[in-house]
Amino acid sequence: MTDVVLNININGCDIHVAQGVSVAAAIAMAGSAVTRRSVRGAARAPLCGMGVCQECRVTIDGRMHQLSCQTLCADGMRVTTGEVQP
Ligand code: FES
Repeated sequence: MTDVVLNININGCDIHVAQGVSVAAAIAMAGSAVTRRSVRGAARAPLCGMGVCQECRVTIDGRMHQLSCQTLCADGMRVTTGEVQP
């Protein structure tokens, strides 16, 4: 069996992840803990890991409010974190 490696871009940095890795995990692997910011600028990070808390929202391929814990990485995906996502 061959491991499939995907190339994704997080905040302008290219990283390689294995197939089946969530975007939230990829963000952590890239060394970032912040996924979004509240309307007052407070840093937010994944909390529940199961699609309930909404704290892991990021922009994926230009679409805001995507749950990074519920989204698997796809080759060529572009992820932006740290934005205000009310
Ligand atoms: S970590 Fe809670 S919804 Fe994603």
